[in-house]
Amino acid sequence: EPEVPSFIASKVSQYSCQRKTTLNNYNKKFTDAFEIMAENYEFKENEILCLEFLRAASVLKFLPFPVTRMKDIQGLPCMGDRVRDVIEEIIEEGESSRAKEVLNDERYKSFKQFTSVFGVGVKTSEKWYRMGLRTLEEVKADKTLKLSKMQKAGFLYYEDLVSCVSKAEADAVSLIVKNTVCTFLPDALVTITGGFRRGKKIGHDIDFLITNPGPREDDELLHKGLLLYCDIIESTFVKEQLPSRKIDAMDNFQKCFAILKLYQPRVNNSSYNTSKNFDMAEVKDWKAIRVDLVITPFEQYAYALLGWTGSRQFGRDLRRYATHEKKMILDNHALYDRRERIFLKAGSEEEIFTHLGLDYVEPWERNA
Ligand code: CTP
Ligand code: MN
Ligand code: MN
Ligand code: MN
Repeated sequence: EPEVPSFIASKVSQYSCQRKTTLNNYNKKFTDAFEIMAENYEFKENEILCLEFLRAASVLKFLPFPVTRMKDIQGLPCMGDRVRDVIEEIIEEGESSRAKEVLNDERYKSFKQFTSVFGVGVKTSEKWYRMGLRTLEEVKADKTLKLSKMQKAGFLYYEDLVSCVSKAEADAVSLIVKNTVCTFLPDALVTITGGFRRGKKIGHDIDFLITNPGPREDDELLHKGLLLYCDIIESTFVKEQLPSRKIDAMDNFQKCFAILKLYQPRVNNSSYNTSKNFDMAEVKDWKAIRVDLVITPFEQYAYALLGWTGSRQFGRDLRRYATHEKKMILDNHALYDRRERIFLKAGSEEEIFTHLGLDYVEPWERNA
């Protein structure tokens, strides 16, 4: 039998920060089903079952071989009964009836549509669903709804925003952001974080971390031009405050969930050129792109970089590991040692891993 040598199931850590997970996923069939189940629990605000399926998905993404028999998952962490049932059915039937039920569920389908709009989360979806709304067309037609500024932008640029961002678009936007930032702050460091830093070829947005070594004069940066839509959230960080213990910590950096107007060379599409009423002026020569801009003080840069690089599951497990294995509290600003009652400074991600007693994991190995 083909066994992968050096792979010992019982030695796989329950924490994804102790595993190296590349984008090479041998078990997509299973992890896709788990992610559908997890999303449905997220829509139902059942965090426990949501995390159960996300953790299981993360373990299977790490496996260096495809699962073909129940024996293959023997000894692995995070394989509870609910998870095993789904795996067993996929092995036997080729698909999961539970995941299929979710995909056909009316509530899931509505929430999936609603949350695909920028600015719409589970809370808003819940409200709309309770009002009897089921589709985005119905939401748009309902003139009594009061949409936030963010949601209005979400509907206005909907088609562009649901189409994914390519690596080439990310590189183009990166140049624009870097040039713009540097005209205001010549020494500033601008780094792509999020999925693109982990090596992904597509994303739903582009995440940037901006820091300025030396004296701080970055507060005004986000208030200057260039954006189609920009919701600026001022920094609420208080010096010496303890790191947050929440599992999905929102940080206190000044940040901006923006939509950027990326001009693109016109595609020479023959179906346009042959149409009778073709008018060059009416062809849109730009694409709306979601960009997250985060401004961090230089001393917190390494923590912000680690937090904003993700994946989300990797970050959750880093914080869970810090809390339960090290009696420390980690968030996107700092690491606090509760035994010693001190903040641990770090100038690089490597130093943070060292503080936590973890082997370094490269960004492209954090696709948990
Ligand atoms: N993040 C965070 N605080 C927020 C929002 C996001 O720390 N308020 C982190 C997330 O945990 C994630 C990373 O920033 O690890 C990037 O978030 P996001 O853009 O949502 O996900 P990506 O991994 O970049 O994937 P996608 O292609 O969907 O954007
Ligand atoms: Mn992202
Ligand atoms: Mn995302
Ligand atoms: Mn983002």
